[in-house]
Amino acid sequence: MRRKLVAGNWKMNGNTEFAAEFAQDLKAKLDAAEVTCDVMIAPSAPYLALLANAFSESNIQVAAQNVAQFDKGAYTGEVSASMLSDLSCQASLIGHSERRTLFGETDEVVAAQVSQLVEQGITPVLCVGETLEEREAGNAEQIVENQLKAVLERFSVDQLKNLVVAYEPVWAIGTGLTATPDQAQEMHAHLRSVARELDEQWADSLTILYGGSVNSKTAKELFAQPDIDGGLVGGASLKVDEFFEICQSA
Ligand code: 13P
Repeated sequence: MRRKLVAGNWKMNGNTEFAAEFAQDLKAKLDAAEVTCDVMIAPSAPYLALLANAFSESNIQVAAQNVAQFDKGAYTGEVSASMLSDLSCQASLIGHSERRTLFGETDEVVAAQVSQLVEQGITPVLCVGETLEEREAGNAEQIVENQLKAVLERFSVDQLKNLVVAYEPVWAIGTGLTATPDQAQEMHAHLRSVARELDEQWADSLTILYGGSVNSKTAKELFAQPDIDGGLVGGASLKVDEFFEICQSA
């Protein structure tokens, strides 16, 4: 049985006061309730240490939103996987569509990032997803399959044992247009079948999250789909009550 995971991606939002209050509130709410899923928060890099500290006595995981493709050296502005490990980060998003489209990150960059994370024992949360044009042209499955294969082809099952995949259709991100549970389930099943080509047992245990305008109203039905193992939540993860409700749906 795969455990559900609900991850919040704060993107470039928040400040020290927000992060400290959110952490305290979320911890209190989760402690007081019976929430059975795993919970993860990905703040901007300056707040990683604050959250790692605040969650050190809890099961809430802290993730970075990105990681350097290199291990160290003259890469101004970058944060390495070993620095994330030093800050007790358990995971890092990679290949988010905003990174791919706004910052030119390619499948090759993403694969190099996986390599850095694997080296440090940090969970890669690999984001994949098609644009609206790609979906309308009937290419959605091929696009996300290629994004996933760019990683699967370069690593062994053992190296990818902690991998999490997040299917985030670009047209659903920040638009209020959630994929229907059927649309999402169809793509998740496809991704799992692609993963089976590497290893059947591993594919069955692979966590595949859905992301794109998830909120407390849409989460339950999405998470009830057989191949949807939780969510990667953007906007709705900035409101602690809303995020907590999403965790309760999982
Ligand atoms: P929204 O939930 O704001 O659509 O963002 C999704 C996302 O990009 C999470 O990584």
